[in-house]
Amino acid sequence: MPNTESIVDTLAERGWCVATGFLPEAAVAALRAECLQAHTDGAFHAAGVGRGRSQVRAEVRGDQVLWLEEDDAGPALRGVLQDLETLRQGVNQALFLGLFDLETHFAAYHPGAGYQRHLDRFRDDDRRSLTVILYLNEPDWHRDDGGLLRFWPDPEATPLDILPAGGTLVTFLSERFWHEVLPSKRQRLSLTGWFRRR
Ligand code: OGA
Ligand code: MN
Repeated sequence: MPNTESIVDTLAERGWCVATGFLPEAAVAALRAECLQAHTDGAFHAAGVGRGRSQVRAEVRGDQVLWLEEDDAGPALRGVLQDLETLRQGVNQALFLGLFDLETHFAAYHPGAGYQRHLDRFRDDDRRSLTVILYLNEPDWHRDDGGLLRFWPDPEATPLDILPAGGTLVTFLSERFWHEVLPSKRQRLSLTGWFRRR
């Protein structure tokens, strides 16, 4: 798998990494098609916030999600889950995080949707250790399209704005880094996951 070593090295050094072209365009297109098919089938639901993720508050978080099960994954998703498994093993060998399993969902942001600044580790569940976000959009995403991932490498310093271009993989230590999804003007698709320790 291309890139895994450099992602692991970067994570070891500073705890976050943006890998453009992690997934080749054809594989992104195949995974996007699986995601859109499930969306057309009505399998997505509004993402929740708060304890148990049960309250829908679109002003905090406006995306729709579909939690994924390996057993009913399509071929493109299976391929990516294998790539992420390679990454999990590499991270465990280099960073000793004890990453154990992966929970994942597809996420779809419709025009106008965003996700306010937050950390990914919940107060009531501290197992989420490494966040992975793989964008499934077309490669031609522009700043004017909105939907940028605003990411704070340091909470006191100026954040970075990351384009959600198809094939880009963003990874970071879940408890450490504040981030936000700026309101998107286009449909914005991703596969998002959290490697958890036991
Ligand atoms: C999340 C999240 C960021 C993104 O789902 O927790 O922060 O760029 N997503 O989609
Ligand atoms: Mn998040």
